Amino acid sequence: MRVLVIGSGAREHALCVALNDDPAVSALACAPGNAGTRAIAEPAAVDVADPAAVAALATGWGADLVVIGPEVPLVAGAADAVRDAGIACFGPSAEAAQLEGSKSFAKHVMTAAGVPTARSWPVGGPAELETALDEAGAPFVVKDDGLAAGKGVVVTTDRDAAVAHGRRVLDAGGAVLVEEYLDGPEVSLFAVTDGTTVLPLVPVQDHKRRDDGDGGPNTGGMGAYAPLPWAPPGLVDEVLATVLQPTVDEMARRGEPFSGLLYAGLALTSRGVRVVEFNARFGDPETQVVLPLLETPLAGLLQAAATGTLAEHPPLRWRSGAAVTVVVAAPGYPEKPRTGDPVTGADAEGVLHAGTTVDADGTVRSSGGRVLAVTAVGEDLAAARRRAYERVAGVWLADAHWRTDIALAAVEGRIGLPTPQ
Ligand code: AMP
Ligand code: GLY
Repeated sequence: MRVLVIGSGAREHALCVALNDDPAVSALACAPGNAGTRAIAEPAAVDVADPAAVAALATGWGADLVVIGPEVPLVAGAADAVRDAGIACFGPSAEAAQLEGSKSFAKHVMTAAGVPTARSWPVGGPAELETALDEAGAPFVVKDDGLAAGKGVVVTTDRDAAVAHGRRVLDAGGAVLVEEYLDGPEVSLFAVTDGTTVLPLVPVQDHKRRDDGDGGPNTGGMGAYAPLPWAPPGLVDEVLATVLQPTVDEMARRGEPFSGLLYAGLALTSRGVRVVEFNARFGDPETQVVLPLLETPLAGLLQAAATGTLAEHPPLRWRSGAAVTVVVAAPGYPEKPRTGDPVTGADAEGVLHAGTTVDADGTVRSSGGRVLAVTAVGEDLAAARRRAYERVAGVWLADAHWRTDIALAAVEGRIGLPTPQ
């Protein structure tokens, strides 16, 4: 099978590593890719936001399966264009990707499917913003309704800051959603689906804030770990029954079947499990810890989802142990990352490239806010964490920053579930 991966982050590097391990894969390409994917996958230039260009590349390269990593090409219709060209594609249609592309669309689907989520107030203008904040109460949650790479949300007890964020989005011509605040720890649960059958993967926790102790602004994600020793038993079955399957069924009922990766961002609140958001693709950095634990060959699994044959796929197999990934970010990330700096030590084991390019002379340089996702597995979470940080010490980027507490609260048994109300 010839497999083409679309994207250029550490998620795509992790996908390439897992696909490269699948004996069914005879050739692998990653477009545009990065300095890390080049070692195992052919690079190719492509504008990922241009569906026709993605389909033309897939046809020209002779792909049997295209795996689309990021949300931007999905929302633009890249999966539709690839399928129209007669090639199997792992990723939802543009319409189904609205589960991620529009938070208000996702809310409509959840309401129709009876999926538990935060109460929300769509806001059309400044006056409505004030009313919505009064009704929702503090802490305030104010969201940009469109794609914002995890950075469009402000959660604050400061009403002025909440108003300022809402106004900024409205002034830029965007739509705003005010939400009820959800307490309790967050979990990312991914499911592979062909639009009918739903196979959940292992629950993961991301660390979204920039700084240790969950301080600083929201980012795309600063690190992740799996499995979650503190998660309640039965969590995956419960989320499958109350969130994932009903959502997939509702999308099919609407005539907009969702196939690909359904990502449920969950909060385990005092009132039970609630959906914070849906994404229409593998999470980044969560994928970097899920895939090293998956024993089932990845290409066969994604192909079964892409071709509607997931019901016949054997049950997923998982390795014992745990995985941790630590994101090494450029100075200035997330606000204004500095790029173009040399990166060294990035060809070591477990170092996934997130935002890198390579010069003609072979120098690896930073090209994005998140530069590396340094990953390790171990027999337990403590061992995986130790090894991941040993590996972080072996890479170098001037003025880089990373969190030093990825998976720490879980290792120390400090994550508690809120008392049920
Ligand atoms: P989103 O882009 O919707 O995933 O939001 C990004 C992050 O903001 C989430 O991962 C949460 O940490 C936080 N967040 C979003 N919605 C809520 C909410 N209703 N209550 C509390 N925190 C939230
Ligand atoms: N880790 C958050 C995301 O992929 O959106």
